[in-house]
Amino acid sequence: MKKQFAALILAILPAFSFAAGTAVELDKVDVDLADKAAMQDGLRTFANYCMGCHGARFQRYERVARDLGIPEEVMLENIIFTGAKIGDHMKIGMRPEDAKVWFGAAPPDLTLVARVRGNDWLYSYLRSFYEDPSRPLGVNNTVFPNVGMPNVLAGLQGRQVFGCKQVQVVEDGKKQYDPLTGAEITHEACDQLTILPKTGTLTPEEFDEKVKNLVTFLAYSANPVKLESQRVGGYVLLFLAVFFVFAYLLKREYWKDVH
Ligand code: HEC
Repeated sequence: MKKQFAALILAILPAFSFAAGTAVELDKVDVDLADKAAMQDGLRTFANYCMGCHGARFQRYERVARDLGIPEEVMLENIIFTGAKIGDHMKIGMRPEDAKVWFGAAPPDLTLVARVRGNDWLYSYLRSFYEDPSRPLGVNNTVFPNVGMPNVLAGLQGRQVFGCKQVQVVEDGKKQYDPLTGAEITHEACDQLTILPKTGTLTPEEFDEKVKNLVTFLAYSANPVKLESQRVGGYVLLFLAVFFVFAYLLKREYWKDVH
């Protein structure tokens, strides 16, 4: 009995270690899958900064161009760098075996990553790289500790460091102010990310927007039929509403003589 109990504990342990891995608080992002401009910008970032290592191999260029309202010529000239044809899948040339040697881990395909990880996780992950000289690539990540991916967006975001800084005290979701002076009440926290000013080409707000657009594109990619399902779902509800009226009238007709 004791042995069985020990075995049971061992069996459920991995579940807890997984929960521990996602302990950091994620920043929330609200993506709008109807915002084509955002998705176009996200696709551009994806093609320029991610497709060196990651593919989206369940997705065809042609379908993406159509869904996002991009003319085929524009797609061919600005997005497809690999010599692929418009009808091809968004695959990349890097072989997983090589990548494993170079980065210690193979970059996974990203077509469905938004479904696996969630939008908030992606948004937080891509903004949480920081300088860490103890790592082989000189970077670490608070959301994905000891990650094998380099910080490819560092040029846009700037240099980010991890450490102590003064943060405003928040209680019950409200920022706290000194009742006498009106000044912000702060305390020192030592698990904070800080972007060194003027080290990136984008401001922090612009960078967040860029990443949000990229996540919007990845969310679309993971579920390209979502918009379509929502539209069809609307018609189905409308049909049911109309059908209900007729079903009710018919029921009344049938039961009229029974009573
Ligand atoms: C130089 C190659 C390289 C580039 C460029 C790159 N990545 Fe990565 N990426 C990796 C590697 C390697 C991993 C695996 C890391 C690990 O498992 O430690 C990874 C992992 C990831 C993961 C985690 C996947 C998971 O579920 O475990 C995401 C998400 C991701 N990359 C997104 C991106 C995005 C978005 C871009 C473009 C902005 C990008 N990557 C550009 C190499 C790259």
